[in-house]
Amino acid sequence: MNDSPAQTVPAGIDDILDQTRADRQAVDRLIVDRLASDVVLVNQISQHIINGGGKRMRPLVHLLCARAAGYAGRDHIKLAAIIEFIHTSTLLHDDVVDESSRRRGQVTANRMWGNAASVLVGDFLYSRSFQLMVELERMRIMHILADTTNTIAEGEVLQLMQMGNPDLGVKDYYQVISDKTACLFAASARLGGVLGELDETDCDRLADYGLYLGQAFQIADDVLDYRADGDQLGKNTGDDLAEGKVTLPLILALQQAAAGEQALIREIVEAGGSDRFGEVRDIMLRTGALDEAMRQAGSLAEKARRALSVLPDSDAKTALEYLAVYAVQRGF
Ligand code: IPE
Ligand code: IPE
Ligand code: MG
Ligand code: MG
Repeated sequence: MNDSPAQTVPAGIDDILDQTRADRQAVDRLIVDRLASDVVLVNQISQHIINGGGKRMRPLVHLLCARAAGYAGRDHIKLAAIIEFIHTSTLLHDDVVDESSRRRGQVTANRMWGNAASVLVGDFLYSRSFQLMVELERMRIMHILADTTNTIAEGEVLQLMQMGNPDLGVKDYYQVISDKTACLFAASARLGGVLGELDETDCDRLADYGLYLGQAFQIADDVLDYRADGDQLGKNTGDDLAEGKVTLPLILALQQAAAGEQALIREIVEAGGSDRFGEVRDIMLRTGALDEAMRQAGSLAEKARRALSVLPDSDAKTALEYLAVYAVQRGF
């Protein structure tokens, strides 16, 4: 006889948000509490970006992984806040590097206060996350997060080196997205397993879940940059091409396009700028590059789901399975 409790299958992201409401509210309270500084500009900028909201996907992954791993304590709240601080600091830095003007439905901090202030407040949030981390007094956790933040920085630099390079290959693209994005998802998931005291192999599988989910999430983001409605997305579309950032849809379009169109894309990537966005998007639609990118994201989401097989059945596990699908199907 199967005596495990019946799982509630979430009908959508709202069900998962409901199911985790108390934990998520505790995380939000902690974030607001620990944002404070005596320096006015630090408060202004950090509140600006935090108040913009955001999907809080990484904290959610962590909260659910901790629950699914059987953790019943409170440290997952602090870790979720730490993870969101790290993520938010990378966004402040990323918008400077990408010269972006819209984030989370608002004007970016770099546009409002300038690059210098954004970089410095990004550093403030980064170091604040480490202050919270040492309070946990757990070397294993610090080790994971120190490695992760270092890898994110490498990923952003790797990407910078590839700007305007139409010869970027699929393998190098995957390296960039694994480092800049997926590794923080991997750490968020792994740390849930660490709190639940899962053995190392199971923690590795949870990290795989996060890694595949994170890759799928970034590919979906790269497709949305060509396909979404900027208002719904809360950031500008078309930015990737404008700054010469070569992403999976573009690589696939280059592979599939006829010689003449290939030459056209290469020229546009090398030149940068936003005026020829429509031409590139038309080629992507015609060659099926956007659909193929989404297909790859879908199979990564499936790999993410399979990595969860190490966990016993629970509502949290079912929610994590759903989240992998949502990472790909989201419209924003
Ligand atoms: C933005 O991350 C950066 C990417 C990895 C695409 P999110 O899409 O999670 O941003 P917020 O936190 O919801 O604003
Ligand atoms: C953001 O990557 C990744 C990090 C924040 C490290 P992108 O530059 O692709 O994300 P958006 O489009 O600005 O959110
Ligand atoms: Mg960016
Ligand atoms: Mg993007």
